[in-house]
Amino acid sequence: MKLDLTNAKLNEDIHAYQDEVTKAHNWLHEKTGKGNDFVGWVKWPLEYDKEEVKRIKEVASKLKDKTDVVLVCGIGGSYLGARAAIEMINGLYPSNGPEIIFIGNTFSATYLKQVYDHVKDKDIVLNVISKSGTTTETSISFRIFKELVESKYSKEEAKERIIATTDKARGTLKALADEIGYETFVIPDDIGGRYSVFTAVGLLPLALAGIDPDEVLKGSLKAYEDLSDPDLDKNIAYQYAVARRILDKKGYSAEMFVTYELQLASIGEWWKQLFGESEGKDGKGILPTSATFSTDLHSLGQFIQAGRKCLFETLLWVDGMEGDIIFPKEENDYDHMNYLADKKVSWVNEMAMKGTLSAHSDDGNVPNIVIHLDDNSAYSFGYMIYFFFKACGMTCYLLDINPFDQPGVEVYKKKMFKLLGKE
Ligand code: PA5
Repeated sequence: MKLDLTNAKLNEDIHAYQDEVTKAHNWLHEKTGKGNDFVGWVKWPLEYDKEEVKRIKEVASKLKDKTDVVLVCGIGGSYLGARAAIEMINGLYPSNGPEIIFIGNTFSATYLKQVYDHVKDKDIVLNVISKSGTTTETSISFRIFKELVESKYSKEEAKERIIATTDKARGTLKALADEIGYETFVIPDDIGGRYSVFTAVGLLPLALAGIDPDEVLKGSLKAYEDLSDPDLDKNIAYQYAVARRILDKKGYSAEMFVTYELQLASIGEWWKQLFGESEGKDGKGILPTSATFSTDLHSLGQFIQAGRKCLFETLLWVDGMEGDIIFPKEENDYDHMNYLADKKVSWVNEMAMKGTLSAHSDDGNVPNIVIHLDDNSAYSFGYMIYFFFKACGMTCYLLDINPFDQPGVEVYKKKMFKLLGKE
């Protein structure tokens, strides 16, 4: 992975932040900063539970060949990372393995009914994921689809097809799982939802989708090693955090996470949660938004190029995306497109990226941070996620914010529960 700040328009030396960065680095690594009960993710690539990962692989290999569909039931940090990984690594229309469908992330009855009708005559595995075990969106979907599984299979078979990923001791989901005897996986106490991709929260759905958890963890370990030095010259996660801090101070209130691949769009969704919930507190923070180019150049492109100068872009470019296609030659050239004949479409995409970067940055004066990732493998996914964790923790500490809580999320829940008549 490489970070390129050439077009970031910082106009300030990042090294001026070295002392602050070193202090915040020590808070993260020595567990002495705000929210220090939740920094279990920092050393997780070294210290993760090897036995649990072995069991994840065993359970996945036992179940994935006897099901048509895996329903992954969770919201926020309990599903966004798995979705981002599965789409990035397997693509949007994989030809092998069970279909993966995400539920538990909405109150849309329309969606739930569509999924229900789509899966009711298929073989199903249901992985419910909730640290608290009480999240309403997840609980509603879980009850509906648990009943479906129970109605389709014997008691014993249904029990085997439902897996709970939750707190090791607390919550109603844990109590139910213990009572019925579901296979359960643990979300560690010291890892919050949006920092949990490398636990069973992410790894079990990945394994069920045929992705090797070990490769993801290897990537995260390499990132841990590369990003454990507070020296700004060596640590690209901290460079990214400082660049964001400088742009924030310059008045940029929004950051647009941009990719050029449809199958990377869910990384943008995961990234928005990571930064939005971590940083958006105390009246501070940069609004995280995302876009997929060139698609969204035909909708948001005008604003970015010539609208209000409130945003900067962070461009994730994957150098070795898997899959390519050659643009065919037509003898009569009816559409005058033969100037691209025999060219790879990936090359066209790359030229679109280079042209857009120059248009936005040089002509539009929009700062651009560019991140290069080697490929869309499980290993690179693991590396990238850890990079963003580290950058996000640093960003929040530079703002004197607790990166690991989300008190603002409770406000809508209280009002909704009152309307729903919850005791
Ligand atoms: O990052 C977070 O902590 C949140 O987004 C949670 O993951 C989300 O609210 C789901 O919570 P739970 O896993 O308790 O159902």
